[in-house]
Amino acid sequence: MPRPASYSRLQVVLHWVVVALIIAAFLLSDQMDEWEDMPADAALPLHGIIGLTVFFLMLARLALRLFRGAPPPPKNDPAWQQRVAELTHWVLYALAIATPWSGGFAFYLRWEEAADVHELLKTLLLLTAAAHTAAALYHQFIVKDGLMARMGLRRP
Ligand code: HEM
Ligand code: HEM
Repeated sequence: MPRPASYSRLQVVLHWVVVALIIAAFLLSDQMDEWEDMPADAALPLHGIIGLTVFFLMLARLALRLFRGAPPPPKNDPAWQQRVAELTHWVLYALAIATPWSGGFAFYLRWEEAADVHELLKTLLLLTAAAHTAAALYHQFIVKDGLMARMGLRRP
């Protein structure tokens, strides 16, 4: 996989747009409380539209990750932290792609088990994103290695 010196502008923009959309999907999740009473051909509530957008943007991000690549992990980090960080990133790709699928299966196929899976996946996504955020803030404010700039638009 390519190892460019930094994330591209598009990768950075997509990262933050997806963060905003996932937060919005969480904030709007009570729109789906009565989903079993909505006909499957009813207009998809905004929660679902936002979630599907996350899915397509994550596919674009995954393609960028695979074909354009990502910068190597910060080299001052212990090797185990570099591995955990990269693994966490792949888990975030997987969860942010699978969560919308499970919601879509529940809504369109009236599939109760998919709704249970959706609840589990959104919890895992929340926990993984929280750990990822904590790690970013740890780097920024405790290690003070300027890591957040890697996901910023300003280039040195
Ligand atoms: C990354 C994208 C998404 C996130 C983070 C997300 C998050 C959530 C959350 C937090 C809930 C509330 C669960 C609860 O009450 O405990 C929920 C419920 C639900 N979502 Fe999503 N969702 C996403 C995408 C979608 C999509 C694309 C659809 C449909 C096309 C969808 C359909 C549903 C349905 C049907 C429920 C109700 C499930 C139930 O009450 O058992 N979601 N979602
Ligand atoms: C829904 C929440 C989030 C998701 C799904 C997410 C997802 C990701 C993914 C998949 C990557 C790896 C990109 C790659 O190398 O292919 C990444 C990198 C990064 N994220 Fe997030 N992120 C989230 C929230 C946050 C937040 C809130 C912060 C900051 C406080 C943050 C800061 C960063 C930074 C600094 C990187 C670059 C890490 C590096 O390569 O050194 N992320 N994020």
